[in-house]
Amino acid sequence: MSRDEQSVKLDLERIVFIGRTFGEYLDMFSFSKDELQGKKILDCPAGACSFTAVGNKLGLDVTACDIAYYHSGEDLKYKGLQDIEHAMKHMQIAQNNYKWDYFKEIEGLRSHRLSALQDCANDMRESNERYVPVTLPSLPFKDEEFDIVFSAHFLFMYSDRLDYQFHIETLDELLRVTKEEVRIFPLVELEGKRYKHLDDIISYLIDNGCKVEEVNVPYEFQTNANSILKINKY
Ligand SMILES: C[S@@+](CC[C@H](N)C(=O)[O-])C[C@H]1O[C@@H](n2cnc3c(N)ncnc32)[C@H](O)[C@@H]1O
Repeated sequence: MSRDEQSVKLDLERIVFIGRTFGEYLDMFSFSKDELQGKKILDCPAGACSFTAVGNKLGLDVTACDIAYYHSGEDLKYKGLQDIEHAMKHMQIAQNNYKWDYFKEIEGLRSHRLSALQDCANDMRESNERYVPVTLPSLPFKDEEFDIVFSAHFLFMYSDRLDYQFHIETLDELLRVTKEEVRIFPLVELEGKRYKHLDDIISYLIDNGCKVEEVNVPYEFQTNANSILKINKY
């Protein structure tokens, strides 16, 4: 195996390719399908979500981007199946940290994750141009190319590995590529506490002319992960 092949393989091993369904996204971002009609939407980072696949089939205009998309859809699907099994084993011991009204039980969670992965992998094959490889904090899109940007389970949540400066640079970039709004879910770190720099981030955004609201949403799986940051540009 060449050095390049080795580093691609290693990178793939580091990626966890798990995603949410279209329905979960509507709940976590508190939008109906009809409200999104006619808007150009970016899901960033989208991972193995089916929001793009199902949204476009329903007549929405959604683009997905993620660092994982440097890999082939086939490799990602294989990795995603392994990651789901690994996550379900972990869930057996961690299930008390989660609320089960939505999925009911681990089998329900598994079937949502498998359905998202399946839809995403099929759509990557059929509409590959909708799946753009990116490396945050920079994006290859034009200024104000989208109307709305959704960002789930990335900023705030991984504060143990993404520092404050990375958050600011990523938010600046998400705001650059949208005309109207950025929504981020959730506002807690992995262990369920409010992101420690959230108030500083909100002040930074307000100082830069944005309107910022914390809004409760009708989706809570990880305990306390039940609100979004709604950032409007003007
Ligand atoms: C936990 S997943 C969330 C995916 C999806 N938004 C969801 O809610 O299910 C985090 C994603 O961030 C992607 N990612 C990690 N670092 C990145 C970077 N620097 N640039 C772009 N994507 C990145 C990973 O590949 C992964 O798909």
